[in-house]
Amino acid sequence: MIAYTLYSALTGLAILPFILYLRNPYFLQDLRYAISSIKVALCLRKFKKRKPFYSILDRFLDHAARQPHKPFILFEESSYTYSQADKVSNKVARALAAHAHLEEGDTVALFLGNEPQFVWVWLALAKLGCIASLLNHNIRSKSLLHCFSCCEAKVVVAGADLRGAVEEVLPTLSQQGVRVFILSEDSDVEGIESLSDKIRHASEQPLSPQLRASVTMKSPALYIYTSGTTGLPKAAVINHEKLWKSSFLQDIAGIRSDDIIYVYLPLYHSAGFQVGLCGAIEKGITVVLKRKFSASQFWNDCRKYNVTVFQYIGEIMRYLCNTPKRDNDRDHRLRLALGLGIRPDVWVDFLQRFGDIFICECYGATEGNVGFVNYCGKVGAVGKENFLHKMGGRYALIRYDTEKEEPVKDSGGFCIKVPRGETGLLVAKIGERAPFSGYARNNQQTEKKKLKDVFVKGDLYFNSGDLLKIDSEGFVFFQDRIGDTFRWKGENVATTEVADHLLTVDWVEEANVYGVKVPGHEGRIGMAALKLKEGMDFEGKVLYQHVKNFLPSYARPRFIRIQEELAVTGTFKQMKVKLAEEGFNPGNIRDHLFYLEDGKGYVPMTQEIFSSIAEGTIRL
Ligand SMILES: *[C@@H]1O[C@H](CO)[C@@H](O)[C@H](O)[C@H]1NC(C)=O
Repeated sequence: MIAYTLYSALTGLAILPFILYLRNPYFLQDLRYAISSIKVALCLRKFKKRKPFYSILDRFLDHAARQPHKPFILFEESSYTYSQADKVSNKVARALAAHAHLEEGDTVALFLGNEPQFVWVWLALAKLGCIASLLNHNIRSKSLLHCFSCCEAKVVVAGADLRGAVEEVLPTLSQQGVRVFILSEDSDVEGIESLSDKIRHASEQPLSPQLRASVTMKSPALYIYTSGTTGLPKAAVINHEKLWKSSFLQDIAGIRSDDIIYVYLPLYHSAGFQVGLCGAIEKGITVVLKRKFSASQFWNDCRKYNVTVFQYIGEIMRYLCNTPKRDNDRDHRLRLALGLGIRPDVWVDFLQRFGDIFICECYGATEGNVGFVNYCGKVGAVGKENFLHKMGGRYALIRYDTEKEEPVKDSGGFCIKVPRGETGLLVAKIGERAPFSGYARNNQQTEKKKLKDVFVKGDLYFNSGDLLKIDSEGFVFFQDRIGDTFRWKGENVATTEVADHLLTVDWVEEANVYGVKVPGHEGRIGMAALKLKEGMDFEGKVLYQHVKNFLPSYARPRFIRIQEELAVTGTFKQMKVKLAEEGFNPGNIRDHLFYLEDGKGYVPMTQEIFSSIAEGTIRL
């Protein structure tokens, strides 16, 4: 009898996985994901309890001690080991402490491209207990000054190649008492101090951890600029806890300690810096750093440096698929790609062409308090709900009215959850376990991202601004972004910021900026509806010079539509949804349309240009 019971129990156990599989074919992946999530949560708890707490810098120092000779950064023809990176960042820290008089808690703005010095300066700042404000090196003049004032940096460290951009804003910086250092051996401009010579002369001796003794898990570690909702860029506050959480994403995606990761995404964004660089430090792996993405060099680089993992944004995957086919397309060691925004057709193409690479698509925002990971490789999904997620119950998709551009409320004035399979606005409860740190010195924008009284009186949610759909198996699909931003070439474009620039042109009376979809492209490209001042003409050349001077290329409106009166909604908000739907086809629109031709300026839009764009012969 006992033998029989034992026997049945054993068979029961043996077929259990099979039953579970039938009920949920993703059972094993779900389990694996749950285990790594729990591991990460326990790790974080442990780090928090250590006194002083254990930071990502401490992790770096541990690697430098344990594996000093392992390559940390490979850049062009140079290679730097963990130990070398540690020593050179000691020198940078000492130079900055001595000449910029930095102290714990000070903020320093980094204005640098993707190069090893970016990493050394950041490590140096971490060693001094300082906060790094990562400026987008494409921005200039007014936007650049705005970013400085967001984070109240008292020092800026700029790359030698960005000297011109710094000189442009130097008078204002000097007025505000900001010290300017440039990574070159000398400087003959008053108000700009050289830093490279000072680094060269500094000692490489380690710095005392006492210098950063008051930093805690909740202290800010970084400011990262986003165009989250409206207006000029905003500095999202990334504290050490948040930095840890994003660093663990590599672990959750299944990256191993023998992997080599290729980082070409800008280090001033959270994907490149937090997930790419800091994630690599968390795992102690080698980073192949690239100044910027190049489709023609991508595979050769991967072969040359034995890259096994890379990060992507959707556009990049499309560029790679668009390169001419080669015999050695599958000759590489890539096994995993981690990123966001890949379109389903590109996803399928990519796998067919380049072989078995696991694509781990994720969803999240720099300042957000919620994220998803598609750990199953399901084509098209940005994530999968896990039973852990559901147990937490901290986020919801709510019904959203895209015409009125606001959440739909029930008779009691509360939001309504959409049924499974329907599209809704993602909101996530703000609380101790999912905090929202907001934007530095911008209370108004911080408040704008919060939704109050969502399901009960007094509750508080983070408004992601994204419309998602979750299917019956728990896969999460991105549908659209609402409101005042759109994404183009992996960058968020804030419509009001672009409109503000257009309004400074003296013949523009009103401007309404929105994003339009282009066949075969991710995201939306910029378009502006303009109302001209009485008796004034549209001057394509003037406008071109203007947008070229003030806006990075991804934010320049590619299409202009001239309107007698700009359409507004019932509540006098500018109508964007309708205009965006109407697009830029001159066959359907009677208003005058203009097209921004590269290197030439705004020219009248024609049916021919439209067809070439639709067919892909003109690449945007
Ligand atoms: C790549 O791997 C090959 C074979 O294992 C090795 O000979 C080569 O040195 C590696 N290249 C780099 C840059 O590590």
